[in-house]
Amino acid sequence: MQSGVRSKVMFQRASNVIPCGVNSNFRYWGDDKTLMLKKGQGGYIWDQDDNRYIDYRLGFGPVILGHGFKPVTDRIKEVLEMGNTFAMTSEYEVSVAEKIHKLTGVDMVRLANTGTEATMHAIRIARAYTGRDKILKFEGHYHGFHDTTLWNCYPPIPGAGYRRSPVLVAHGSGIPMKLSELVISVPFNDRELLENRVKENWGDIACIIMEPLMGNTASIMPDEGFLDFVRDLCDEYGIKLIIDEVKTGFRIAKGGAQEYFGIKADLVTYAKALGNGFPVAAIGGKRDIMSEIAPGKIPLGGTYTGNAVAVAAADATLDAIEDGALDAVESHGKKLMEGIKKLLMQYDVPSLVQGPPSMFGIVLTGKDRVSEYRDWAVSDHDTYEKIILSLFEKGVMPDKDSREPWFISASHTDGDAAFVLQAFEDSLKEVLGK
Ligand SMILES: Cc1ncc(COP(=O)(O)O)c(C=O)c1O
Repeated sequence: MQSGVRSKVMFQRASNVIPCGVNSNFRYWGDDKTLMLKKGQGGYIWDQDDNRYIDYRLGFGPVILGHGFKPVTDRIKEVLEMGNTFAMTSEYEVSVAEKIHKLTGVDMVRLANTGTEATMHAIRIARAYTGRDKILKFEGHYHGFHDTTLWNCYPPIPGAGYRRSPVLVAHGSGIPMKLSELVISVPFNDRELLENRVKENWGDIACIIMEPLMGNTASIMPDEGFLDFVRDLCDEYGIKLIIDEVKTGFRIAKGGAQEYFGIKADLVTYAKALGNGFPVAAIGGKRDIMSEIAPGKIPLGGTYTGNAVAVAAADATLDAIEDGALDAVESHGKKLMEGIKKLLMQYDVPSLVQGPPSMFGIVLTGKDRVSEYRDWAVSDHDTYEKIILSLFEKGVMPDKDSREPWFISASHTDGDAAFVLQAFEDSLKEVLGK
C-alpha cells in the first residue's frame, strides 16, 4: 500500500531532518509506504490524508484505554500547572508506587521512563545483588534498545546456527561484540537446553530475563509448567528471575503475567500500558533486593523519573484498570480471535491464533504448536503481510509484521469487531483469489 499525497509530503520533510523520517526504526515501512499521523482518538487513528484506521497497533501496545482517554488527560491537566520535574518526590509518585504494589504484589517500586530503561536497571540490580555479570535470555525475546539485551532478538534463520547451540547475533552494528561474552541465549520453551546452559554457567549468571509470553514474536505462549521450571532453576542456582512485563503488564491481567500465569519474579519491569501511552516505566521487585538500591550501593536514577505528567497518566490509568477496564479489552479481543480463527479455517489457511485476547498473535503455519522463535521464523510472512496490507486499505490497522500482536484497547467497540471481521474476510478473498 502506498502512502497518500500528504503523508508523502510530510515524509519528505521529515526525512530531511530525521533519519528515515521516523523516531524509531520499527516505524519505517519504506519511503513510499510510511504513513504519517494526524491524530488519534479512542480506538482510531487518522493519517495525514484523513484515512481513518481502527488501531490495533496502539503505539506498539501502550494505549490500553484508548487514545486521548479523558480520565487520563484530565488527571494530566490537573498537574500541568504545578510544573513537571522537581528533583523531589511528589505525592503522585507515591500513589503510583502504591497502586503498582496493590495490583501486582511487588513489594517495592522504582519509576523510570521507558521499557528500555527499566530492563537496563533491572539487569544492573540483579548483577549487583548476585555479584555475577552474565545474563541469560531467550531467542525472539526483546527487552529494549540497550546493548546488553540486543542479542538474538530476531536473528536470521538460518544464520543463528543450530538451535542446540545458537550463535549470538547482534541486532545491528554498534553493539560491541565483546558484550556477547556476557550473554547466553537459548530457544524458548526448551527445558533441556536451558537447564544444560544454566548448569554449565550458573556461577556467572546474574539473571534470566524473559518475556513471560513472546510479546515480540506473535504472542507465543510458554508451555505448561515452563515458567515454573525457570523459577525453580533460578532458585536452585541463585539466579535472579527478571520477568519483563513491558508488554504484558497491566494488559493481560490487572496483576500482569505474574497473576495470569501464577508465577513470582524477583524483579519485574513495566512500561507501556502503565501510562496509556505516556512515557512511564517501573522496576518492581522483592523487598530484600529492591531495598539495596541506595547511594553507594546499587545506582539507579534519572532526571525525569517520576515526572508529574508521567505519574499523573499512570495514576489515572491504574485507577481505570483497577475499576475493570481490562474486561472490555478481553471481551473485544476474544471476539476478534474467535472470528479470525473461524475465517482462517473456513478459507483453508493453515494457521494458529494464539496468546491472551488482549494481545493475540497470528502465525500462518501448518504446525499445530509454535513454541519458539524458530517456529515463527519459518511461517508464511508474505501471505500474512498481504492480508494485513489489504486490511489497511479497508481501515483496519494491526501491524503488518506478524511478530507484533494485535493490541486491543478498552475503547474498541462491538461495531469495530463486526467491521474488522467483515474486512478480514474480504481481505482473505482478495489475497487468496477466492
Ligand atoms: C518486552 C519489552 N521489553 C522492553 C521494551 C522496550 O521498551 P521501550 O520501547 O519503552 O524502551 C519493549 C518494547 O517494545 C518490549 O516489548
